[in-house]
Amino acid sequence: MAGRPDSPASNVRSLIVIAVVVAALVAAFVYTAGWLSPGRLTPAKLVDSLAPPGGPALGFRRNHAKGICFTGEFESNGGAAQLSKARMFAAGTYPVTGRFNLATADAKASDAMARVRGLSLRIVMPDGSEWRSAMIDAPIFPVATPQAFFELQRALARKDDPNAMKNFAAAHPEIGAFGAWAGSAPWTASYAEDRYNSLNSFVFTNAEGRDETVRWSFVPAVKPENLSADELKQRGADFLDADIAQRVGGAPQRWSMMVTVANAGDPTADPSKAWPEDRRTVEAGTLVVKAIEPEPDGPCRDLNFDPTVLPPGMRVSDDPFPAARSAAYSVSFNRRTAEDKDYPHTTAEGAK
Ligand code: HEM
Repeated sequence: MAGRPDSPASNVRSLIVIAVVVAALVAAFVYTAGWLSPGRLTPAKLVDSLAPPGGPALGFRRNHAKGICFTGEFESNGGAAQLSKARMFAAGTYPVTGRFNLATADAKASDAMARVRGLSLRIVMPDGSEWRSAMIDAPIFPVATPQAFFELQRALARKDDPNAMKNFAAAHPEIGAFGAWAGSAPWTASYAEDRYNSLNSFVFTNAEGRDETVRWSFVPAVKPENLSADELKQRGADFLDADIAQRVGGAPQRWSMMVTVANAGDPTADPSKAWPEDRRTVEAGTLVVKAIEPEPDGPCRDLNFDPTVLPPGMRVSDDPFPAARSAAYSVSFNRRTAEDKDYPHTTAEGAK
């Protein structure tokens, strides 16, 4: 028999319901924080694993910490509208904010030491939708899963164990292809001479509702000048920033956006595997870099180039990386923006 709303039995039932809701919320929090399963990979652990031996550079991105911001345009030629109804593929010109960067957590790394270079882009469309992408110049990623990426960071940090990387490579043979690229690919003289690749795959949907799984690349208009190891050292620790600022100061710099369409059976969930060369490729338009912007306090500072920020007409695929990256970039963003006092700010005299 039900008690009256204000009866003692009804009050006890209300308290039980409240206690159950609170317990469920606490359990959800504890699970999300990873306290129930210390072995589970969390975004915070992934980001912690990237820290150099002396700790992270406070106020900076926890990876790709060194970089230089720019603004420009994406001139769409309309070609990729057959693949995706995203507004940025309708012929026209769209504003871009982007960043050239080095794949290292060391904000003071020498340009001659960073094997992997990156290009990050954000395009805002007139309908308010947005596309963000963070690409690298390697043609493949070193590992097949976010878990393996975490284990790779741990192996790299084990300076006390000479076998750590050997054991990692034995358990993750896919890293061999990346190693071969890193050991043999030329080092170019400029961010403007590199090709940048999404490596992760995404699903494009066109106006008829047809889905295709794709990857994309930005292919430079200028011919690369390859540097020898000696030439590279002679250029100095910060030659890439000086070079790109000088080039963009002289004339806009351009890359073609090429979209590659997967065939059935291609490894869409594994960025350590290239797709065969003969896959259908569609030119979507041209990235035009028009102005170098200040890195401290410039338009990139409070931007997180989260690869899951996608307009209607694009979505993530079965590739597990974009979701893991989104969560890790958010942790990095929250940490670095909370460390504002450690970040070099631009003053009347320049960066301090
Ligand atoms: C699970 C794997 C990965 C982790 C944990 C990771 C982690 C990070 C973190 C923490 C940042 C700094 C984010 C910020 O503070 O805004 C970052 C930036 C970046 N990452 Fe990754 N990353 C991963 C995979 C990749 C892949 C697959 C690519 C390229 C194909 C990539 C390219 C970049 C680039 C270009 C940036 C610089 C973005 C910027 O300019 O803000 N990352 N990454």
